This record gives sequence, structure tokens and C-alpha cells, in this order.
Amino acid sequence: MRRVGIGAIALTAAALAHPQSTRAQSAGSLKEAFAGVFRIGAALNADQFSGVDARGAELVKAQFNTISPENVLKWERVHPQPTTYDFDPADKYVAFGQANGMFIVGHTLVWHSQTPRWVFQDAEGKPLTRDALLARMHDHIATVVGRYKGRIQGWDVVNEALNEDGTLRESPWKKIIGDDYIVKAFQFAHEADPAAELYYNDYNLENAPKRNGVVELVKKLKAAGVTITAVGSQAHDKLFLDSPAKHDTTIGALGALGVKVNITELDVDVLPMATRNRTADVSVRVQGQPGAASAVNPYVAGLPDSVQKALAKRYADFFTVFLKHRGVVDRVTFWGVGDGDSWLNNWPMPGRTSYPLLFDRKDLPKPAFDAVMGVARQARAGSKS
Ligand code: XIL
Repeated sequence: MRRVGIGAIALTAAALAHPQSTRAQSAGSLKEAFAGVFRIGAALNADQFSGVDARGAELVKAQFNTISPENVLKWERVHPQPTTYDFDPADKYVAFGQANGMFIVGHTLVWHSQTPRWVFQDAEGKPLTRDALLARMHDHIATVVGRYKGRIQGWDVVNEALNEDGTLRESPWKKIIGDDYIVKAFQFAHEADPAAELYYNDYNLENAPKRNGVVELVKKLKAAGVTITAVGSQAHDKLFLDSPAKHDTTIGALGALGVKVNITELDVDVLPMATRNRTADVSVRVQGQPGAASAVNPYVAGLPDSVQKALAKRYADFFTVFLKHRGVVDRVTFWGVGDGDSWLNNWPMPGRTSYPLLFDRKDLPKPAFDAVMGVARQARAGSKS
């Protein structure tokens, strides 16, 4: 590669073309900082793995060793009509992961959101019978998991099956099939790729009632003889909450059952709540004036230093908890790469300016990135003494 010497610093031609990537590189790499501890990942949008967002792709390659697909493997995308599968975007996602030697996650097989209505209906629009829906679930899982067998290494088999009080959500899956739909989904996934890791994934698992619910669910799945590798704790956090200690308890409780815990969708929303309830339910939508500064969209012109610092501290606290549980936590995945990509700019209210990740809108590392790297450095220094 052509190198250009400038004083003591040697810059590659690529870095000269993207000066900001030089700053990102000199700040260090998350995947190297946590090597041998846990994998570090990000959810990717289609631009990042199909060549449209080259800068984003470079950052992903430099920083992460595992990827999740933000949307392209959800039922509505990959299987939009009863006899139509659209594998093109997911194929590109998997090819990107393979080309870069990454641990590739599949998200998600059985969920009540981003799943077309026809899935639960017959040709006349009437609700399917239990057997017909089980057959449809089986076909979908066999087709999608089967296609990527040996390439997608871990699957979110069931997403968000629990209510906030820890009971099973009355989703169409539960209503039509019954409580055992979760066991069936795991069995079908295991049958389609016996070597794949299989996960149950949900949000708010740090809250006591839902924590108890997921503990019971894991016990039931294990009693039914199901292969479950890990629970995915989405960890969509909000800055005004006090959550790292609660996550500590949940990771401990799940680890004691002999499952791994993956942090699967980490982000920290700095914006005021736009909804009354604390949720990560994608179906919740709130009206707003896209782009306009307001009480619920206060940082359109930039993030105040005090909030930037609080965000960095929250991330340091989180990673201190994850490191404490390094034997249980296999992976920490952020839900997005740079702040500009985050779903929190458009959920639950469209057109807000949020700052939930470690990289800013130019993909440059934020103080929160430095804080996380600092925790890794301290842990390495501690383990040597
Ligand atoms: C979100 C995506 O980030 C958005 O692009 C999409 O519009 C809605 O879904 N929990 C999950 C993820 O399991 O699939 C959701 O992703 C965020 C909440």
C-alpha cells in the first residue's frame, strides 16, 4: 500500500481520502480492546453492507468482530408474501460478514412485529389453525436458517415474547399455537442447523418482573430439552434511568441457570421520554414535528457537554458490569454504528436528533468511546497485577 510520510506520522492513501478515519484509527479499536473477553458488535443497515456507505463499512471493519442485521432478516423483509422470499439483501449481509471474518447473527425468526398479517391467516383471511401456523413457522425457519446453515452462527429464534410483568405476551403466535410455540420454534431452528447458537431475545429484562419471567422461561425451555445457548438482553437504555446495577442482577440470575447472556441491542437514549411507558416496543409511535427543536427534541444543534459526560459515564458503568460477568457475556452488540444511523432518531417519534451510540454523525469516536476503551485498559492492567 502507498504510504505518505508527514513528519513522524505515516498516513495511508485511504486515510488521506478520509481524514476522519485516521482519527478513528488512532483512538483504538473496540474489538481489540476486548479480545479474549467478549465479542463486540453492531447492527448494520443495508447501506453499510452493500457498498453505499463506504465510510460506515470501514468503521465496522475496524471496530467490530460480530454483526447483526438491523432489518433484512425480519419476516416482512425476507418473506413478504406466502410464496415469495427475498434473500438478496440478507445474502449481501452474510457475504460482508464472511469476507471480514465476523461472527454473523440472524435476527429474528419468530416475532409479533415486522411480521405480515397474512402469516396468521388462511387464503380467506380467517385465522389459521394451530397445525397450519406450526407448519408455516416450520417452513419459514427451515428455509431461512437452512439457506445460511454454517454461515449465520447464531439466531434470535424468538423475540420479545414476554410482557412487562413477566407473563407471556398474547401475540398471534401464542393465541393460535399456545404457550409451546416457543419450544417449537427452538426445535425447528435446531433441526435446520444443529450447530447454530440459539437465543431468546427481549428488552427490559433488567426490570425485576420481566427478569423473573425470563428466568422461568429459560427453566421451562431447558426442562423441555430445548437447545438454548443464550438470552439476548437488548439493553435499550435511557440516560435518566439507573440501569447498570439492574443489568448486573439480571446477568447474574441468568448466568446461574447455565445460559450465556448476550447484550444484543445496546444504546443509551439521551432524549426526554416521548411516551408515558418505558418500552422498546417498535409498534409504539408518537406524533411529532420532524426536525424541529422542542422539549422532547432539545439537542438539534448539538449535545451539551454535561450530557456528553453523563453518557460516557453510563457506558463506562455498563462495561464495568459486563466485564464483571465476562464468563457469562459472550457478546456486546450496539444497535447501530454512528448516531446518525440510530433507530432512536425516528422511534418512537420521527425526526428527532439522538446521540445514543459511541460514534457521532461523522462516525468519529465520542467521549463515550474513550470511556469504554478506558474500562478495557483498566481491566487489562488489573488482570496483570
Ligand atoms: C428496529 C430497527 O432498528 C428499525 O430500523 C425498524 O424500523 C424497527 O425495528 N427491538 C428489536 C429490533 O428487536 O429489531 C428493533 O429494530 C429495535 C427494538
